[in-house]
Amino acid sequence: MSLAIRNGKVFTRGRLVSTDVLCDKGRIKKIGKNLKGDKAIDASGRLVLPGVIDPHVHFRTPGEEYKEDWKTGSRAAAKGGVTTVLDMPNNKPSITTQKLLDKKRKAIAGKSLVNYGLHFGATADNMEEISDATGIASVKAHMGSSTGDLLVPDTGDLYKVFHAAKIGGHVVAVHAENNELINKFTRDAKRACEGDPIVHTRIRRNIVAGEAASLAAIISKEVGNRLHICHISTRQELDVVRMAGGRITCEATTHHLVLEDNDMRRLGNYAKMNPPLRSHEDRMALWANRKLISCWCTDHAPHTREEKERDYWHAPAGVPGVETLLPLHLDAVNKGMETLPEMVARMTTNPARIFRLEGRGELREGFAADISIVDMDAKQTITNEDVVSKCGWTPYDGLQLQGVPTHTIVNGEVVFDGEFGAAVGVEAYTY
Ligand code: DOR
Ligand code: ZN
Ligand code: ZN
Repeated sequence: MSLAIRNGKVFTRGRLVSTDVLCDKGRIKKIGKNLKGDKAIDASGRLVLPGVIDPHVHFRTPGEEYKEDWKTGSRAAAKGGVTTVLDMPNNKPSITTQKLLDKKRKAIAGKSLVNYGLHFGATADNMEEISDATGIASVKAHMGSSTGDLLVPDTGDLYKVFHAAKIGGHVVAVHAENNELINKFTRDAKRACEGDPIVHTRIRRNIVAGEAASLAAIISKEVGNRLHICHISTRQELDVVRMAGGRITCEATTHHLVLEDNDMRRLGNYAKMNPPLRSHEDRMALWANRKLISCWCTDHAPHTREEKERDYWHAPAGVPGVETLLPLHLDAVNKGMETLPEMVARMTTNPARIFRLEGRGELREGFAADISIVDMDAKQTITNEDVVSKCGWTPYDGLQLQGVPTHTIVNGEVVFDGEFGAAVGVEAYTY
C-alpha cells in the first residue's frame, strides 16, 4: 500500500519546500505536487522531516529486559519521531563475539517498530572478533568503566582495539573517561564519606573525559582509523575535537544540552549518568561550539525507579531520553538556539553518513521512507505519566515545550500517529 503525505512543508536537499511525498514499497517513490496514494496523511501546517537517527541507545536486550525491551524501547523511539536507533553492546552478556551478536540479532528480529543497527563491544582480548565482525555500526570501546562490564582501561590494549577495528574497516566509538582518574577520585570520595549524588560530578570531573578524549584522538591519528567520541560534555573535549580539524566526529546528548550539575540537587540519582552533568559554562559551550559536534543523540539508558532510589553508591548511572530527543530539539529551534537545517543535519544526515546507513537520513527519491512529521506550534508538558519507556520516568518531568512529533513513518509504514503501529523495523546493516 502506498502512502501520500500531502500539503506539508518538506525538508529536502537542505531546505523546506511546500510539496507532497509518496512512499511505496518502503521507499520514497516521488517528491512533488499533487501526489496520490492508497492512503494519505494531511500534513497541512506541519513539517515533514527525515526520520531522526539516534546513534546511541541502550535498549537492554539481551539480559536486562526488566529495564527496557525492544517493544517498549522502539515504541518510545517511534513516539519521539526517531526512525532508526543504534544500540550499544553493554548487555548481559556484553556483545563481544560474532556468536553473541548473531544471538542478539535473532532476539530483536521482528520486535522493533523502528529500524536499528548494533554496535560491537571491545575487550582487551577480542581483536579477531573485532576485525571479523560484520554489519556493525561501530566498535565501542569503554576507556572508563560505566554500566555493564565492558572496559578497555589499558592504553596498549586500546591501541590494539584501534588496529583491529582498522583491519575490519570499522568506526571506533569511545566512551572517553579515564579509568585511573575515576578510581582515584572515587577513593577520595569514599574516604571523605561522601554520599550525596552531587559527588558524581566531582568523581567524573572534566579532566576524566578530557584526558581520555585526547588519548583516543592521538591513537586514532597514529593508527589512521575513524574515531567517533560518544557523548562529549566538556570544553576540554571540544578542544580535542577542534584540534583534530574535522578528522574525528562526535555526538552530544540531550541531557548535557538541557540539564546542568545543579539539577542533580533536585533530581539526585535520577540525574546520575556517565559522563555526568556539567557546569553551566560547559553546557553553554556545547551550544556555542555546536559546529564541532556532528550528532545529537540520547544515550537512552533506562533503569528502574527501584534502582534509582538506592543510595548514591548503589544506584546505576543512566537516564532515558529517546522519546524526548526530537521534542527538546524542536523546542530549541523554536527558541532560536539552533536552526532547523542545523538540527536536521545533526539528527539525520550526519549520523547516516558517519555510521554508513546507506539510503537513509534524507528525504530523497529512492531513499528509505523514514519520516517524522512535526507540529512546530503545538505545546506539550513532559510528564513521567506519559513516558512509554519501560522505566516510567524522565529527567524532564514538568518541562514545557513547543514542538511535537505527530506522525512517525518507518519503511513507508505509520508506526506512530497517536497510536502505535506494527513492528516493521529492520536491521539497517547487511551482513
Ligand atoms: O550513564 C550511562 N549509562 N553511561 C553509560 O556509559 C552506560 C549507560 C547504561 O548502559 O546504563
Ligand atoms: Zn558511554
Ligand atoms: Zn551509552
